[in-house]
Amino acid sequence: MEQIQIIDAKHHVGETVKIGAWVANKRSSGKIAFLQLRDGTAYFQGIVVKNEVGEDMFQLAKNLHQETSIWIVGEIREDSRSKFGYEIGISSIEVVGESHEYPITPKEHGTDFLMDHRHLWLRSSRQHAIMQIRNEIIRATYEFFNNNGFTKVDPPILTGSAPEGTTDLFETNYFDQKAYLSQSGQLYMEAAAMAFGKVFSFGPTFRAEKSKTRRHLIEFWMIEPEMAFMHQEQSLEVQEQYVAFLVQNVLDNCDYALDVLERDKELLKKYTQLPFPRITYDDAVELLKKNGFDDVEWGDDFGSPHETFIANSFEQPVFILNYPKAIKPFYMKPHPTREDVVICADMIAPEGYGEIIGGSERATDYEFVLEQIRKQGLDENEYSWYLDLRKYGSVPHSGFGLGLERTVTWLSGIEHVREAIPFPRLLNRIYP
Ligand code: 4AD
Ligand code: MG
Repeated sequence: MEQIQIIDAKHHVGETVKIGAWVANKRSSGKIAFLQLRDGTAYFQGIVVKNEVGEDMFQLAKNLHQETSIWIVGEIREDSRSKFGYEIGISSIEVVGESHEYPITPKEHGTDFLMDHRHLWLRSSRQHAIMQIRNEIIRATYEFFNNNGFTKVDPPILTGSAPEGTTDLFETNYFDQKAYLSQSGQLYMEAAAMAFGKVFSFGPTFRAEKSKTRRHLIEFWMIEPEMAFMHQEQSLEVQEQYVAFLVQNVLDNCDYALDVLERDKELLKKYTQLPFPRITYDDAVELLKKNGFDDVEWGDDFGSPHETFIANSFEQPVFILNYPKAIKPFYMKPHPTREDVVICADMIAPEGYGEIIGGSERATDYEFVLEQIRKQGLDENEYSWYLDLRKYGSVPHSGFGLGLERTVTWLSGIEHVREAIPFPRLLNRIYP
């Protein structure tokens, strides 16, 4: 008898199979028990009929506790009434691991309680759906960059560099030196682009953000492409094609997960339309002022109400171009005709999900980069390797970073970024 995963049920209709599963819930009448089961791939129903399995097996089924693990044997059947579409008519059950007083019951629980039980909460159908979407975004990311001539390069996690400013660094001891956990792999990816042309990374990044918002994690995963011989305008095209590709693949491959999350698919379809709109930072400030945001002055960074208002003025993700130099990192290319802005763009997701991409063209001039490093109070000796990139065959190059969890949150249509990563690290939480 074949052991299968229920996700493959359509290839096994009418066959008797063996499945390892957990009991999510159950109900029974005098003669039939309905087990709500999950095997890690999907949630499905198992039906136990007293007349078919006998009194002992039926009693065993009726008395199974939530999250008991079991082997089941039975026949796969189509079931047009369920969302999943298949069920199993169970002929035998064998208990593998008992479970008593499972803390997460089908009733509502508070967020703190669920976060304390994250190791178990992950088993619920909603969390399962979100993780399926996360997995699809990761899969589609590799597909997109592999298909477009990029090489994956892994930057270090322990580093001496601080590309995104020194305020939120995690410092650690590196024998008799100090080191930081990576905020961004970008500087290394610039070196990699000079070696391999078009590169991308995918890895964890760390920021000791003191802000407690629904968009910030302390540890989050970033995808960072970097492209040699490429100006910002071409980079924006790569960015919009990449994001549209992610949305399309989530639509194509996560239909069931989107249903579980009750995500509006018609809305998602709009986000596959290219190009995405572009406005400058200057125009964004104007737009906000005209609409009653009296608190915004040219030169300020946008807060989340501002980003949400700008996003709501468009139907797709929107690029905000050319921010003030003073609020952006040292490596960005200066504007050719204006002193006060740099060649950069943030991509703002629709529906109030905020910035999902930060990117820019990179400064290529040795003297200019050195001056910026000094101005930011960084130790130029620690950046001499980075400056080398401007000494030996410096070329125009551009890149960007997409925040995985922000993207998962947006495409899943969920409230808070903490549910977009298996084990979130938050300001007050490093457990479980
Ligand atoms: O805009 P950021 O800071 O850009 C960089 O780090 C560049 N070095 C990337 C590059 O050009 N290679 O971060 C990039 C993205 C943001 O747009 C956001 O989606 C995400 O990373 N992000 C966070 N996500 C969750 N929690 C946080 N604390 C985040 N900080 C940034
Ligand atoms: Mg940013």
